[in-house]
Amino acid sequence: MSRKPVIAGNWKMYKTQAEVIGTIEELRALVEGYAEVEVVVCPTFTSLPAAANALRGSSIGLGAQNVHWEEEGAFTGEISTEMLLDVGCQYAIIGHSERRQHFSESDEMVSRKLQKLIQTPLTPILCVGETLEEREAERVEEVVLGQLERALAGLTVESVFRIIIAYEPVWAIGTGRTATPEVAEEVHSMIRGWLSETYSEDLAGGIRILYGGSVKPGNVAELMAQPDIDGALVGGASLDSQSFAQLVKY
Ligand code: 13P
Repeated sequence: MSRKPVIAGNWKMYKTQAEVIGTIEELRALVEGYAEVEVVVCPTFTSLPAAANALRGSSIGLGAQNVHWEEEGAFTGEISTEMLLDVGCQYAIIGHSERRQHFSESDEMVSRKLQKLIQTPLTPILCVGETLEEREAERVEEVVLGQLERALAGLTVESVFRIIIAYEPVWAIGTGRTATPEVAEEVHSMIRGWLSETYSEDLAGGIRILYGGSVKPGNVAELMAQPDIDGALVGGASLDSQSFAQLVKY
């Protein structure tokens, strides 16, 4: 089954509205109509309306970096799926390691977010990945598959089909220390194998698994050449439109 590659930019806590609009305008000029790849930008919440406006009529998708699992309520500082849809989002990143590390986001919270997201038209981008300590202790399989199992608990095969998975080894994020294509492929293929056993071969063959962690224009092609790597979730190298466009045109 052919899987359309996804190149998603996670802009983290960078860029004002004006900067987001500027980068999107440049990016549109560089990659618009490049239909081979699904391109997604994920600016901060405050820039989402401006980004949606700048993306009007564009094939580039818009994603949020987080979402809450409740419909509405007394949850100061949180944003609901309905609010994301209201400003024109199509994707939402959940379970990013920075949320897990700095904001104590647990697998249970990630699972609730996923349960909520799959009831909406939003496409979840579910992040998983081990720390350096866990890798050194040879716990990659247990950690990554454990995160997946707990996040996906209770979901039907049809719902899981709608998810994009992003494998982001924590030790490779923002460190310049990319996983080698072989190391990344090993985990991607393990994830796909687990999906096949747990759900179906069909699902495992159709679901997109992105790699994230120091993806740059210089290493994207060799990562994308791996059979089980279907795209990239990119931080630093996605902030600049030229570099982002190079990633899209790997
Ligand atoms: P970097 O590309 O800056 O390493 O960040 C990766 C990431 O966390 C994307 O979500």
